[in-house]
Amino acid sequence: MEHVLLTEQRYVPLEKIKSMHRQALENPEKFWGEMAKCVEWDKSWDVVLEWDPPFARWYVGGLLNICYNCVDRHINGNNRNKAALIWEGENGTSRTLTFYELYREVNKFASVLLNLGVEKGDRVAIYMPMIPQAVISMLACTRIGAIHTVVFSGFSAEALEDRINDSRAKVVITSDIMYRRGKRISLKSTVDRAVRECPSVNYVVVVKRGHDSEDIRMVNDRDYFWDELMSGASRYVEPERVESTHPSFILYTSGTTGKPKGVVHSTGGYLVYATKTMEWTWGINPRDVFWCTADIGWITGHTYVVYGPLSLGTTTVIYEGAPDYPSPDRFWDIIEKHGITVFYTAPTAIRMLMKYGSEWVKKHDISTLRLLGTVGEPMNPEAWKWYYEVIGDKRCPVCDCYWQTETGGHLIYPPVGVQLLPLKPGSVTFPGIGIDADIVDEQSNSLPPNKKGLLVVRNPWPGMLMTLWNDEERYKAYWSRVPGTYCTMDYAIKDEDGYIWILGRADEVLNVAGHRIGTAEIEHVLVAHPAVSEAAVVGKQDEIKGETPVAFVVLKEGYAPTEELKSGLIHHVKATMGPIATPSILFVVESLPKTRSGKIMRRVLKAVASGKEPGDITTIEDEGSIEEIERAYEEFKGKL
Ligand code: WT7
Repeated sequence: MEHVLLTEQRYVPLEKIKSMHRQALENPEKFWGEMAKCVEWDKSWDVVLEWDPPFARWYVGGLLNICYNCVDRHINGNNRNKAALIWEGENGTSRTLTFYELYREVNKFASVLLNLGVEKGDRVAIYMPMIPQAVISMLACTRIGAIHTVVFSGFSAEALEDRINDSRAKVVITSDIMYRRGKRISLKSTVDRAVRECPSVNYVVVVKRGHDSEDIRMVNDRDYFWDELMSGASRYVEPERVESTHPSFILYTSGTTGKPKGVVHSTGGYLVYATKTMEWTWGINPRDVFWCTADIGWITGHTYVVYGPLSLGTTTVIYEGAPDYPSPDRFWDIIEKHGITVFYTAPTAIRMLMKYGSEWVKKHDISTLRLLGTVGEPMNPEAWKWYYEVIGDKRCPVCDCYWQTETGGHLIYPPVGVQLLPLKPGSVTFPGIGIDADIVDEQSNSLPPNKKGLLVVRNPWPGMLMTLWNDEERYKAYWSRVPGTYCTMDYAIKDEDGYIWILGRADEVLNVAGHRIGTAEIEHVLVAHPAVSEAAVVGKQDEIKGETPVAFVVLKEGYAPTEELKSGLIHHVKATMGPIATPSILFVVESLPKTRSGKIMRRVLKAVASGKEPGDITTIEDEGSIEEIERAYEEFKGKL
C-alpha cells in the first residue's frame, strides 16, 4: 500500500511512541500511575491495577469525580470564561456556554436530580437530541455519582423500554420534540409509550425544545419541565467523591443474541484513558476547537464529545442536525463559523458528502483545520483520499481510529498528538500506547504479516469495560473466545510494516453507517410478528452506509407474500427497533438453507443478498463444505 506523502519532515522515526509503548507494556503500573496525573484525585489510589482475569480494577482505593474534572477544575484555572460547549442547532441557532456557565447549569441540574431523589449509584436514562441539556444531564449525573445510560434518540419506544428496565432507571430525561431535516419528531410521546411498563421510573424531566410545546401531555406527579425544576434548584452541589471503580455510565450495544449488552464503564480508569487518548490522538492545544460529530447516544459521543475534550479544558462542539440539511455544505459551514481545528466524523458521512461534490466545500474557508479523524467503519481509500485532499487540503493527517463501546477510548490509532507518522489510507496504523494488540488464530497464536485473523488485546487497559450490567457471565465471553485475550470479534491483518487493517466483524453483528446492530436482534423482532415463522438477517454492502440489513423470512401457514405484508414487516422492524435497523430488502422464502445440523447457512444468504458467489464472501465459516454451500446457493437462488 502506498504511503500518503505528508511533507518530508513528517517522516520522523517512531521512537517516541515506541518508547512510551514499551514502558507501558514493561511496567504498566508505573506507566499508568504516571499517566493518571492528568486528572485530579481527591484521594490517590493504593494500587494502580488489580488484575483478576477477566476483571480489571484500575486505581483501586482512589477517589475522584468526573464532573469536577471536566468542569470545576477549569473554572478554578485559566479557562473560566473560555467556551466549553458550542451548540449548533439544526435551524441555525447556536449557543455557547463558557466553562463557568456550564458549571452553573450542571450544578443546578445536579441539584434537580437530588431533589428528585436520585442518589449515588442510581441509574438515570437520557433520551435526548443533541442539545446542551443532554451534556448538562450527563455531567450532572456524574457529579452526584448517579450512573447515566444514554439511549440514542433514534431508538424506538421498545428499545428504550428494554434499556430502562434492564438498568432500572429512576428518572428519564428527554425533550418534547427533536428536529431532524426540518421535521419535528416527538420524543416525549415515545417516552410515554416506553415507560408504561417501566416500574422503576418515578420521574420524567422534559426539556422544551419546541416553542409551542404547551400542548404536550404531562402526567401529574411524574412529568416536570426542565426549566421549572431548574428555577427551584440550588446553585451549588458538592461533587460526590466516588471510588475509581464506581460505574460512571452504562451504554447498551449490540451483540450476537437478541438482548443488548449493557457495557459498564468505570470512573477513574475511564477518565484517565479518555483524557490520555484525547491528548495522544489529537495533541490538543489550548486554542483547539474540537468537533466530533457523533451523537451522545454512542460511545464516541461519551468519550470524544463530552468527557475527553472537557477533561482537557477543550472547546467541544455539538450539532443537532443532519450533515446535509438544509444543504450539503452544513458541516463545512459549521467548521468555518466556529473555526474548528480538529474534525472527527464517520466514513459514512464522508462518503455521503463526497457524493455532493467538492464545490460545496470550496464555498467555505475551512483552513483552520489541522487534523481530521474518522471512526466506526473501515475507510475506503477513495473516501480517505477525498477527505485528505479536499477537506484537509493535503495538510491535515487523517487519523483513522479503531475502537469499540467496550474499549472506552481509541484502541488502534495513529497517535499523531505524540508524534506524526506516515499514514496509509485505509489502515488504522498501530496498537495504541499501552495496548498489547495482536492478530491471532483461534488458539491465540500470532499470525504472520498479511494473514487474516482475529484482532485481540493481551493485556487490560484503563478504558476497558468493567463488566456487563446484570450479566457477569456474558462479560466473561470477551476473554474466553480466544484464550487469555480480549477478543474484539473483528477480523484484521497486519502488513509487512506492522500497519493494521480492519476487515470487518467476525460475528453476526452489522455495521450500518457506523452503528452496530446485531442481526439476531432484527430476527427476534421479525419472528415476533404473527405472520413470520422463521427469519434470518444478513448484511449487504452499501456504497454509503457500508452495510445494510437484508431479511429473509419464512411465513406461517395461511399468510400470502403480498407486497403489503412485506412492507408491513419492514415497517414493523422500523417501529420496533428504530430507523437504523430497517431492512433495505426483505425476501419471503419457503425455507432457509441449512446445514445437516440445522445451522442456517449465512454465507449462502449473504451471497444471494450481495449478488455474489458464496466463495467470495468473507464471513464466519458455516459448518457445511464449500460444495454443500454452492449447491444450497444454486438451489436457494432458484427458489427466490
Ligand atoms: C465496531 C465497534 C467506538 C467507535 C464507534 C463504534 C467497527 C470501529 C472502526 C474503524 C473499521 C471500525 C468495528 C468495531 N469499527 N472503528 N476505524 N475501522 N472498523 O462503536 O458501536 O461499539 O462498534 O465498529 O467493527 O468492532 P461500536
